[in-house]
Amino acid sequence: MSAKKKSMDDVATSIDEAIRSRHSVRSFLDRPVPRKSIEEILDVARYAPSGTNTQPWQVYVLAGEVKKALSADILADFEANPEREEREFEYYPTDWFEPYLGRRRACGWGLYGSLGIERGQTERMHEQRARNYQFFDAPIGLIITIERRLNIGSWLDLGMFMQNIMLAARGRGLHTCPQAAFANYHSIVRRHLPVPDEEIIVCGMAIGYRNARAPENIWRTDRDPVDGFTRWLGF
Ligand SMILES: Cc1cc2nc3c(=O)[nH]c(=O)nc-3n(C[C@H](O)[C@H](O)[C@H](O)COP(=O)(O)O)c2cc1C
Repeated sequence: MSAKKKSMDDVATSIDEAIRSRHSVRSFLDRPVPRKSIEEILDVARYAPSGTNTQPWQVYVLAGEVKKALSADILADFEANPEREEREFEYYPTDWFEPYLGRRRACGWGLYGSLGIERGQTERMHEQRARNYQFFDAPIGLIITIERRLNIGSWLDLGMFMQNIMLAARGRGLHTCPQAAFANYHSIVRRHLPVPDEEIIVCGMAIGYRNARAPENIWRTDRDPVDGFTRWLGF
């Protein structure tokens, strides 16, 4: 095997490993992440494709006191009104249906189950949901926005950009959790960050070093096999 071929095989293996080893981490170590690492991650992520190269992403990187103050304000509101719905966009269908409903339930109960939370333990579920707003103790939190005048196609681009962030993080030993939960609190986010009215707050993201012993990080979601979503034609 030529040196070149071998190195391309290595690249494929590394990319596959980065993709497969990414999972949503919901407990992070108290270990700082240097600003330089986040700069490198964003520098790689910006190579995401986008329709006509529009590059429709905006990112706010939060650490230290800014992150803490945002978390404290959202948590206070979450305690006062845990069912708040102030999204600027609909992520999910209003009426759930199969197979998505079943998968959603499996995800929720899987997470709670990993923590020993049983049906009816609403207090503990509430506490777990609240952890979102502390970025699950990650040292870095991102808030990702998009200009509201852009159309649905640009949201595809934003998703690819976000995946690039998550994979580039893996390449540096870091883990992530994308967090649409922050979209529910866009008015509070706006109080803390200089987000112009023209931008929609789409998603948050926790970034840091994984606490590998936390039960919620040991649990994994599963996936439908390829045959479940693929039709092969013309082979
Ligand atoms: C755009 C987006 C938003 C998400 N928002 C949240 C969130 O607010 N809180 C959370 O705990 N997980 C959130 N997740 C994580 C999903 O639950 C997770 O990706 C899914 O269950 C698959 O598990 P995995 O990421 O561990 O592979 C989000 C994922 C995506 C892609």
